[in-house]
Amino acid sequence: MNLKDHIRGIPDFPKPGILFYDISPLLAHAEAWQVAIERLADAIRPHKPDLLVGIESRGFLVAAPLALTLGTGFVMVRKHGKLPGDKVAHSYDLEYGTDTIEIQSDAVKPGQRVVVLDDLLATGGTMAAAIRLLQQVGADVRAAAFLIELNFLQGRDRIGVPATSLMAYD
Ligand code: PRP
Ligand code: MG
Repeated sequence: MNLKDHIRGIPDFPKPGILFYDISPLLAHAEAWQVAIERLADAIRPHKPDLLVGIESRGFLVAAPLALTLGTGFVMVRKHGKLPGDKVAHSYDLEYGTDTIEIQSDAVKPGQRVVVLDDLLATGGTMAAAIRLLQQVGADVRAAAFLIELNFLQGRDRIGVPATSLMAYD
């Protein structure tokens, strides 16, 4: 099955000149979505994760079903102000300004093997920040995995761990 048949390119979103890769058709197609999750599971299994981490918000859609498939726990990295209780935060630079992501302090035990999931790898800024945050709380981050990778932005060079993606666009 060619999973790209279930990805829709939408021009000029969210800004003029940007081609947005929309995963909604893939999520809406039961068989294709199941194939996508199985292929990611096969790529992640050799890393023997204790936990899968999803990055808010579209990363949750990928990490949660994969955690059930692989029999691991699932942990959320969220945008600032969304998680209750004790948290660890990490701020990172955007094109204009900064952003902050958070994780609950007790979500990962030191040395636990973690694979981090997101729907899309673009510049790698989001994933790099999530990995730094996880390393701050003692996680052993083994890999990052994505549905889609935008090759021309070379995001995989920024993240410092092995990266896997199911679909790449030039
Ligand atoms: C998108 C996408 C990735 C990130 C990729 O998330 O889901 O998380 O951008 O970009 P980068 O590699 O350049 O950091 P977005 O911030 O749009 O939010 P969402 O997941 O909540 O829709
Ligand atoms: Mg996102």
